[in-house]
Formats: sequence, structure tokens, C-alpha cells
Amino acid sequence: MRGQLTPGAGAAQDNRAELDDAYGCSFRIGATHSCPPIHAPPPSRMSESIESVLAEDRSFPPSPSFSEAARVKSREQYQRMWEESIHEPDVFWGRAASEIPWLKPFDEVLDWSDAPFARWFGGGQLNASHVCLDQHLETERADKVALIFEGEPTPDGKPEIRKYTYRELHREVCRFANVLKARGIGKGTRVAIYMPMIPEAAMAMLACARIGAIHSVVFGGFSASSLEDRILDGGCEAVITADGGWRRGTVLPLKPAVDEAIVKCAAQGNCPVKTVLCVKRCGNDVAWEPRRDVWLHEALESVEEECEPEPMESEDVLFLLYTSGSTGKPKGIVHTTGGYMVGAYLSTRFVFDLRDDDIYWCTADVGWITGHTYIVYGPLANGATMVMYEGAPNAPHEGRFWEICDRHKVSVFYTAPTAIRAFMKWGDSHVEKADLSSLRLLGTVGEPINPAAWIWYRDKVGGGRCPIVDTWWQTETGGIMISPLPGVSATKPGSATQPFFGVDAAIVDERGKELPDGRGGLLAIRKPWPSMLRGIWGDEERFRATYWSKWAASGKPHYYFPGDGARKDVEGNFWIMGRVDDVLNVSGHRLSTMEIESALVSHASVVEAAVVPRPDDLTGEAIVAFVIPSGSVADAQATVEELREHVGVEIGKLARPAEIRITTRLPKTRSGKIMRRLLRAIASGDDVVQDTTTLEDPTILDELRAGGKA
Ligand code: WT7
Repeated sequence: MRGQLTPGAGAAQDNRAELDDAYGCSFRIGATHSCPPIHAPPPSRMSESIESVLAEDRSFPPSPSFSEAARVKSREQYQRMWEESIHEPDVFWGRAASEIPWLKPFDEVLDWSDAPFARWFGGGQLNASHVCLDQHLETERADKVALIFEGEPTPDGKPEIRKYTYRELHREVCRFANVLKARGIGKGTRVAIYMPMIPEAAMAMLACARIGAIHSVVFGGFSASSLEDRILDGGCEAVITADGGWRRGTVLPLKPAVDEAIVKCAAQGNCPVKTVLCVKRCGNDVAWEPRRDVWLHEALESVEEECEPEPMESEDVLFLLYTSGSTGKPKGIVHTTGGYMVGAYLSTRFVFDLRDDDIYWCTADVGWITGHTYIVYGPLANGATMVMYEGAPNAPHEGRFWEICDRHKVSVFYTAPTAIRAFMKWGDSHVEKADLSSLRLLGTVGEPINPAAWIWYRDKVGGGRCPIVDTWWQTETGGIMISPLPGVSATKPGSATQPFFGVDAAIVDERGKELPDGRGGLLAIRKPWPSMLRGIWGDEERFRATYWSKWAASGKPHYYFPGDGARKDVEGNFWIMGRVDDVLNVSGHRLSTMEIESALVSHASVVEAAVVPRPDDLTGEAIVAFVIPSGSVADAQATVEELREHVGVEIGKLARPAEIRITTRLPKTRSGKIMRRLLRAIASGDDVVQDTTTLEDPTILDELRAGGKA
């Protein structure tokens, strides 16, 4: 019996080559982040502050005209609002919450007496699909386009485009909800959603929300065994899927993986799944179990168009979303209704400065938290028009994203640093071909962005005129926690800048004591916030241990531990330095791998770099860098010494890699995160003993092992 997933299995264990290829790209944002360290860092490694050596002093204030028109216009206004959100949360959040519609008003803003279990907006009732859809129907937004969908295929050069107004989306969601109800799905039922990026994915989420079912979206690039684990852990009684989705010109089958997952669940003797609801997207052949499987289009023929939203208590669960930690099986992060919706609504409104005529595009997949909060719940709660794209950024060509921005006149664009680095690599010509003058605001999320990519994004995509919001947050936080406000913040390449409203972020040491400005340390959140996680599904102990125990022994049991290292500069800007297990220690100096990578990537001949420690007798740990060159491997071998010196100049001699290995690829998960634990093993000359099934491309290990040492 498979009680535990293998470590690191945020984790797809996927043997299907087509899926690897299809979703094994690094452009999906919002990926699960960390991999278990191969050498668990000794406690002493964590005990001091992290040394920060990256000096970045470029600063880009918003233009006066942007600030003038923005929702938050000045630093004073931000400061006033932030102070109120921290010192009078009842006032601030009470007001924010009253901007979304409640079916029954709440009587209390926050009850933290049962910490770490927060109760926000107690006594209130609402429904997330009502907030996203019904509220707009009585306004002039009823016939505004809510969703613009673009499919991947472009037969005859013509893309498939579908648009839904709020009224149409509402109707589709009600019908979808009635299909679920007819199958006995109702309040509290868990439903897995395993879908391509098509409108029905968003509709499925909203339909669940409408009837009070708890959705658990599983990224369509995950394998049958990942799906199996999530179905079992959540006790999902239904799976909503599609026959397949389009990816780089081919069909990526999904229904077969659902069938396989269910067989695996059944083999364990307790398969909870009673219904598989399938969207016909690609027309590929699928096996059919008539008592269990239902075509959505057939079921829709016989349902009513009305479906009253189920009144949900503020703390009723809205969804589960699995994320991997540094060890153990994925955690089913629990988000509830009221606090999550208020957080999603407000952060979307202020961080993206959304207005009614914006066309907003977040390139994430709905399988990640970014897709939940900033494709579905946040934008729709604000009555925005959002774009959804099914396919790959390089299909049929490497300019597809810019073509989409141009075609739909996208004004707010939100993507991931890893995607930006790929666009850089593909060359400026693709960006230059498109008219991107509609863009007014850019965003990034998912990992620290290296300044070189940030500047490229600003200059080439944003034409030098669009503010960039570098948004730090997590699956667990539900919404953006640290980010510029575009009308206020002087942005700095590589800094997520300032805490969002209600976020009491601090840089602390192992004892929870705040460190002086400029010193790197552990990021802590010292107060509860509305969209915070409410638990790990079925595992209260792990919830307490993972997030609330770090400083408990130091008398701070209610400091939230996100697991990231960071520093704050004298102006109060936060610089995220990566996961704390991505920190290395050279001669007693604690260095962020990200900063060294950033220095390497700032060299013209480097496209991407990954830095890991290897044990060293003299210095404790030595730095090993894996580098993808912009030119040929052979040419790059000759520049290795130059690269070392470059890092020396950018950061300091102590940060110079002891070894640089030139490679054409880096080992990545399907969601695009570099698998450092593998690189650590390779750098140390160890055998790779841990699970490699989450690797996008397993053949890469041989190349890296053989890789040119210098
Ligand atoms: C981890 C959370 C939030 C949705 C996407 C990822 C890293 C995220 C940033 C950023 C530096 C970032 C952190 C965080 N991260 N955004 N702007 N700058 N690091 O969600 O899979 O839960 O991962 O991603 O390490 O802890 P996730």
C-alpha cells in the first residue's frame, strides 16, 4: 500500500513521454518549489544570518501619470493604509470585505484565539461563484467580456478564439453546477479537476464553488500516480477532466491518465471516485466506463439554466491545492471561502491596479495557486476581462505570447522569470514583431528574478514604460504578500519591495529576533492575514510543524515560517533570496545561490545558471555552477575563467565558483523549477539515489555527469 509518496513528489511520476514533452516546459508559472536537499543542511547552516552580496542600486519610480491614475497614488497613502491594516485590522479588513457581496453579513473580522487556526469574517456567509459572477449581472458589466480564450491550434493561421461575457459565463457555470448536482455532488464533496487550460477548467472550479463542493485542481502535466495520490488523500468522489488538450501541435491525452489513476486507486481497495465528467476537447479516442463516465456536453442537454449559489460559511473550505515541501508527500493546502476571496479581490485590485478597460493576462496554469487566485477568483471578483491560453509559448512559433498580447490588446501581463529567460534566449525579434503598445503593467511570480531578465522584460516587453510588479507569495499564502504597488513603489530589479496590506513581514534570526536592515535572514510573517492557509488536509500536526514551529521554542508560536531567506534594505524593500535550503556556506559566508546565479546570468555569454554547494575540506562548501551558454559549449569552455572573474567582480572573490560546468540543459521539474538536489549530488560526485521521476528529461543526468569540468 502506498501510504507515502516518494520524497520530492510534488511530484509527478510520469512515464508518458508525450506528457513529459507537452508540459515539461519551464513556462508554466506557479510551480511547486523545493526539492529535498540531498545533504540536509546541518542545523548550524541555518543558524546565522545569510550574507547578502548582491548590490543592485538601479531604481525605477513610476511615471507621474501612472501614479496619478493609479488606485494607490503615493507612498503616504500606501503607508497610511498599511499602518491601518496592521494596527486596526478590523477597520481595514472590515471595509475591504464589505466591497464584495455577502449573502449574510459577518459579525466579526478576525478571531485568532485558536491560533494557528484563524477565523476570518465569522458569522458571514457568501459564495465564491456569486462573488465572481452574479454580482456583476445587475451592473453594466453583465455584457462585458469576462473571458477571452485562445486555443493552441492555428489551422490556416487562424487561432481558435472564444469569448464569454459575464452573463454567458454565469449561465455556463450554473448549467455545469446542475450537472454536478445531478450526480449527487454537493456541499463538502471533494472533486478533482484535471484539465487542460480551457474555459471549462475555470467553469469547473466555479461550478464546484457554486454548490459548495471542494475542488482540488491537479495540474494537467502531472502523472496518473500523482493524480491517484491526490484523489486518495482528498477522498475525491468525482474527477472532472477532458479527453485531451492541445500542446505543441499534438494531443495531450488526459482521460487515459484518469482511468489509470482510478485503476490504481481501486487496486488499493478504496477508490472514492463515482463520477468522471469529461469535456470533449480534442476528439481523441478514450475508453469509457458507462456507469461512471459522463460526457459534459451530453449531460448539459438536460439541465436547467438556473442554479442558486449555496450559502457558505466564511470558514467553509473552498478548495484544496497540493504543493510539495522539502520532504514527504505533497501537502493538501486548505483554503476557505471568506478570507481567501477578500484577499484575492483586494490584492488583484491593488497590485495589478485593475480598471474596467484592462485586458488582463496571467500565463499561469489553473493547476497552480497563481491560476486559482489570479486567473479565476481575483480577476472575476473584480469584474475584469481576462485572457486564457491553452498551449505552449513557442507553438507554432516563439512569438506566440506577443502575438496574443497584440491581438487581444493585453494591458496587464503576469508571467514567470523562467519564461522571461526563455524569451530572452529566443531573441528580441519575436517581441519586436508585435505591437505591444497596449501593455501598461507587467508582473512576475514564482522565483527570484535576476536583474538581467528584469531589465530585458522592462525594456523589450514593457518598452521602458510599464512598471513591473515582482510578487512574492506562496500556495500557502493564497495571495500576494510582498510586491510593489505600481503607482507607488520605485521598483528595483530583483526586489519584491514592500509588504502588501495586512502583511507584517520581517527578517528574523533563528530565535525570531528581527535583524538589522541589510542583513539576510529568515522571512517571517508575524500576523495572520485573510487568505492564509487554514491547514493541511487531514494533517494538523504537519501543519503546525511545518509552518508554526520554527520560532515556537523562542516564545513566538504564531509567527508563520514561509521557508524563504530574504533581506530588507534601508528603504524597507524586501529582497527574496530563495528557499533557505538553497543557501550555501563558503568559508563561513552564507551566500544565496540565486545571487551568484544572477551574477553569472548578467554575463553576456550566459543564458541560465544553477549554483549548488559541494562539500569542501577547506572552505566547508565550495560553489559549483552549471551554466548554459548563449553560444556553443566548446566556445563557452574557453570563457570559464572569465566567468569566475565576472562573479568575482559582481559579488566578490568569495563568491567565485570553484567549478563551472558548461551544459546545454538543466534538470527541471515539469513545472520549471531547477532540481537542485540532483545537481548537488552530481556536483559532489555522488550517485543520484533519489527519485528522478519528476525530471522533465531524465537523459539530462548523463550529460551533466559527463559535463565539461573546468
Ligand atoms: C515559493 C512559493 C506564488 C505562486 C507561485 C509559486 C518562491 C514565489 C517569488 C518571487 C522570489 C518567489 C518562494 C516561495 N517565490 N514568488 N516573486 N520572488 N521567490 O508558488 O509553488 O507555493 O512557491 O516560490 O521561494 O516560497 P509556490
